[in-house]
Amino acid sequence: MIVMGIESSCDETGVGIVRLEAGADGAARVELLADEVASSVDEHVRFGGVVPEIASRAHLQAMVPTMRRALAAAGVDRPDAVAATVGPGLAGALLVGAAAAKAYAAAWGVPFYGINHLGGHVAVDALEHGPLPRSVALLVSGGHTQLLLVDGLGAPIVELGSTVDDAAGEAYDKVARLLGLGYPGGPKIDALAQEGDPSAIAFPRGMTGPRDARHAFSFSGLKTAVARHVEKCERDGVPVPAADVAASFQEAVADVLTMKAVRACVDEGVGTLLIGGGVAANSRVRALAEERCAAAGIALRVPRPRLCTDNGAMIASLGAHLIAAGATPSPLGISTDPGLPV
Ligand code: KG4
Ligand code: ZN
Repeated sequence: MIVMGIESSCDETGVGIVRLEAGADGAARVELLADEVASSVDEHVRFGGVVPEIASRAHLQAMVPTMRRALAAAGVDRPDAVAATVGPGLAGALLVGAAAAKAYAAAWGVPFYGINHLGGHVAVDALEHGPLPRSVALLVSGGHTQLLLVDGLGAPIVELGSTVDDAAGEAYDKVARLLGLGYPGGPKIDALAQEGDPSAIAFPRGMTGPRDARHAFSFSGLKTAVARHVEKCERDGVPVPAADVAASFQEAVADVLTMKAVRACVDEGVGTLLIGGGVAANSRVRALAEERCAAAGIALRVPRPRLCTDNGAMIASLGAHLIAAGATPSPLGISTDPGLPV
């Protein structure tokens, strides 16, 4: 069975195509056939962040060409099911992808499945590393920072904790703006941090006190501490040590994320940690997670960077796993929901 997945929750127009097969053991096997992404990121750069109206219009222009490229790359004329992100995300952007998916599903006479974007970031890993055992998932993106308990990809996901203020990716983007690095900040800080000293500045680790919620995060204090540091340099008339700030900030983020993720695995008695979302592409998060998981005897799964950021393959993957688990198709009247919980 061929499943097409459409992603349009933010600034990436993604169309992925997968093949779903029942393995010899009855477990679903999902194979990636095509993964085409068109990004409007360049159109948002001069505004320093994603402009929802521009993202919606870009989805409208890119949707059909991206879909055609994906079908051609997969060598498929018509999928057997169409899945699309219905939330969470930008309202107008979500509408474009979901409307396109429903229209094509109706025209092709195939079922439509409305998909949760956050679940997609978890399910994408199965395309690379196979069936997912009971796991803790650390989901770190521009809009979300959460610890999740995942028990099979067709089953409901339980939220263990989440950020009380900024998402990790949002903190990266804001700190990049403070350092004049431009948007999107994550990859730029990651690159600059390679030239800096991660122990140069002792930035705060939010939500790590003995009375703080074990599985919650907070990054607004860290962002403010970086702003104060930059202001002090300016007041004192000394150059901002941008590489040291980037490296020390990145160390603080990676330290908190990986410490809490490993602790959640221990608390839940789970032997596998999965990291997903755009910030999972971060070099220090990946390295420190490897180190700490190895020390704690926890298996680590992180998709390749290209699959960590938004794409259609993640939506096709979750769609296929839901189909394998016997989910009923969504009615074509189903609404998109910008605030959809996990
Ligand atoms: O998952 P994603 O593509 O979109 C959302 O659903 O938000 O994540 C985008 C976020 C942005 O905040 C971006 O700055 C961050 O992921 N990001 C990174 C890196 N690559 C992307 N953050 C840190 N290091 C990176 N290498
Ligand atoms: Zn995302």
